[in-house]
Amino acid sequence: MRAQLIRVATEAEAAREASRLIAAHINAKRDALVTLAAGFTPLAAYQELVAMQSRGEVDLTSVRYVGLDEWVGLGENDEGSCIFTMNGAFYQPAGIPKENIRVFDGTAKDICAEAQAINAYVEAIGGLSLAVLGIGMNGHVGFNEPGNPLEGQFSLTPLSAVTQAAGRKYFFGNAAPKTGATLTLNALMAAKHSILIATGAHKREITKAVLAGESSLPAAAFLNHPGAVYIFDAACCP
Ligand code: GLP
Repeated sequence: MRAQLIRVATEAEAAREASRLIAAHINAKRDALVTLAAGFTPLAAYQELVAMQSRGEVDLTSVRYVGLDEWVGLGENDEGSCIFTMNGAFYQPAGIPKENIRVFDGTAKDICAEAQAINAYVEAIGGLSLAVLGIGMNGHVGFNEPGNPLEGQFSLTPLSAVTQAAGRKYFFGNAAPKTGATLTLNALMAAKHSILIATGAHKREITKAVLAGESSLPAAAFLNHPGAVYIFDAACCP
């Protein structure tokens, strides 16, 4: 294993570790292209980052951000969409200028063209520099589902039953969309640094499978990445 493994006692410590690493990356690389996962797992880390910025420890506005993934059909006004979550949890409190944020619009009329536009954006910049990822219940990262490799930098993808079921939590228990759009595993693996986070007892089984290196799991693909850091709390990694 070439990736680094950080195991901490609590979810709050996991957030502190993640925010420390993210801030160090942003401070060192002013031209970074960063992608931040919008699930529940990293939200506390984003809160820490905003607090760090208010103490003058990091300038979060100095880099560019590209959305990791989105539910097709949803946009920034839809509660539960990735951009709605990120606006509330990070982009707005951190004061990130609009021109520094590029996200897939799940409400676009031509979603294929929209996906291609994100693909072209990432290619034109020369790829990601940092990916902050939450490990999903089935070992997905972004919407890269196990056993469904995607091409290019950004792609549309059907979502697995597990992802749709897990996704209900973002929509007050209502059904989640069946299609997603995501930065591909190739794009994420090409980032110099990546941070993969899992917390909570409900992620214990999948964390075990990821650490066992189950080859079908996108989250396990980073185990041999020298720039990857996995952060687990004791509940998911006893
Ligand atoms: C979701 C999102 C991912 C997220 C992952 C884990 O479906 N598409 O971006 O990181 O699954 O989500 P959570 O952190 O809420 O468990």
